[in-house]
Amino acid sequence: MELNNKVAVVTGGASGLGRATVDGLVAQGVKVAIFDLNEEAGNSLVAELGADKTLFQTVDVTNEESVASAVDQVMAQFGAIHILVNCAGIAPAAKVLDREGNAMPLSKFSTAININLIGSFNVASKVAEQMAKNEPMGEALERGVIINTASVAGYEGQMGQSAYAASKGGIIALSLPMARDLAKTGIRVNAVAPGIMGTPMLLGMPENVQESLVANIQFPKRMGLPKEFADLVGHIASNAYINGETIRLDGAIRMQPR
Ligand SMILES: NC(=O)c1ccc[n+]([C@@H]2O[C@H](COP(=O)([O-])OP(=O)(O)OC[C@H]3O[C@@H](n4cnc5c(N)ncnc54)[C@H](O)[C@@H]3O)[C@@H](O)[C@H]2O)c1
Repeated sequence: MELNNKVAVVTGGASGLGRATVDGLVAQGVKVAIFDLNEEAGNSLVAELGADKTLFQTVDVTNEESVASAVDQVMAQFGAIHILVNCAGIAPAAKVLDREGNAMPLSKFSTAININLIGSFNVASKVAEQMAKNEPMGEALERGVIINTASVAGYEGQMGQSAYAASKGGIIALSLPMARDLAKTGIRVNAVAPGIMGTPMLLGMPENVQESLVANIQFPKRMGLPKEFADLVGHIASNAYINGETIRLDGAIRMQPR
């Protein structure tokens, strides 16, 4: 898909990987709607990038009405949605049993699944409904592209990551059947599985945790840059033959148990 003059929705666009994706897409001539809970950061991003190119909607991705009304707002303001990038997510850490041997409260597990997995499906399905109305575009006659954010934890989750890893494994499993469901409509579905990226989510972890994570990265021996994520998203959006796949973006890291 030619990106210039298209419309994207980026969830979690007020911070980190989502924020870098907003910057990257706007730089390529895409109008971007940011769906995030963080109003202050979202509004200041719109002030910075311009209200003609961006729109902020306070959205809880787990809430059907919240997402449906934000999608309506994007359609009213920009007239169509061609690209969806699901970046909203949380990364809680908790072991199945704590130090005293008590089981993890179920709410900890279900919150991660709810935001990371169910939230992504909630936005993707509602946005796909609008994408299906687009005129076919380009040589491939495509109507839209959905890019979800998985994680290398979806393949090799560490200790304390059972909830997070299960949510991201769900995202990986989602790409193919969703791409199959939407193939007839001309909508592609892919995911990116980042490794250790330098965002507030990672930079907020204790320094010894950050160091041990970077130690496992093969090359380049540093955290990934949010811009490297945004560049890959831009490529997936513009390359019509990438479909039903999850792409690792991780400097060849394979996560160890801890
Ligand atoms: N940073 C990494 O190293 C890394 C690695 C692998 C995967 N990821 C994934 O990438 C995505 C983005 O991570 P990040 O590092 O940019 O995190 P971040 O914390 O910087 O940004 C996440 C954003 O999501 C928003 N958000 C959280 N819950 C929400 C909800 N219910 N509704 C709407 N918005 C909500 C937050 O307000 C925030 O702006 C996440 O899905 C994360 O799991 C990150």
